[in-house]
Amino acid sequence: MSKVVILDHPLIAHKVTHIRKKTTNTKEFRETVSEIGGLMAFEISRDFPLQDVNVETPMCMHVGKELSKQVIIVPILRAGLGMVEGILNLIPTSKVGHIGIYRDEETLEPKEYFAKLPTNLDEALILVVDPMLATGGSASAAITVLKKRGAKDIRFIGLVGVDEGIKKLQSDHPDVDIYLACKDAVLNEHGYIEPGLGDCGDRLFGTK
Ligand code: PRP
Ligand code: URA
Repeated sequence: MSKVVILDHPLIAHKVTHIRKKTTNTKEFRETVSEIGGLMAFEISRDFPLQDVNVETPMCMHVGKELSKQVIIVPILRAGLGMVEGILNLIPTSKVGHIGIYRDEETLEPKEYFAKLPTNLDEALILVVDPMLATGGSASAAITVLKKRGAKDIRFIGLVGVDEGIKKLQSDHPDVDIYLACKDAVLNEHGYIEPGLGDCGDRLFGTK
């Protein structure tokens, strides 16, 4: 069974509270989601594998360390895009793949409409990012797409999740660890998280 890690860092908690406020405007919402993405990446990368590398300092030769696996960030469009820049700031050598999925408003079933991914997924460390883990349908579908293309080492990073989404992801993909900034109490009858953030894609891109 995968592990579920809630990153209860004070700075993350402070920033999540800021984006929960309905008065937070699009600019601040977008900037803060990106910042939280970066803070989460710092915490999550603690166990990233390293390899030895020989470097020449101004003084002598030295055996240092470098990341041994290519990191690939895969945002689920649209809202996952909001977390990419913050993670790239910390891990600038990352590649970025995109998977487009939206929820059918009636059934809440995920509908895939786009996938453009780097090659060699089988050797990479893949971070699937989406701020919202609600029913878990979108995240699970995105991970299925990645596995069909050979991905093996996958982690899911979200801002706000609920038990329903966590259970779905653990049941469909028991090998994928789940990292969240916080866990909320309620998934309402419309498939929205409460207290949540509202519609994260719309708030990021100002579409409502
Ligand atoms: C939102 C969110 C997730 C999904 C989560 O996307 O960004 O992808 O819902 O819900 P789930 O866990 O029940 O699948 P949405 O379908 O609103 O698309 P958008 O990001 O393009 O607005
Ligand atoms: N998608 C969102 O954007 N918000 C929710 O609360 C649930 C799914």
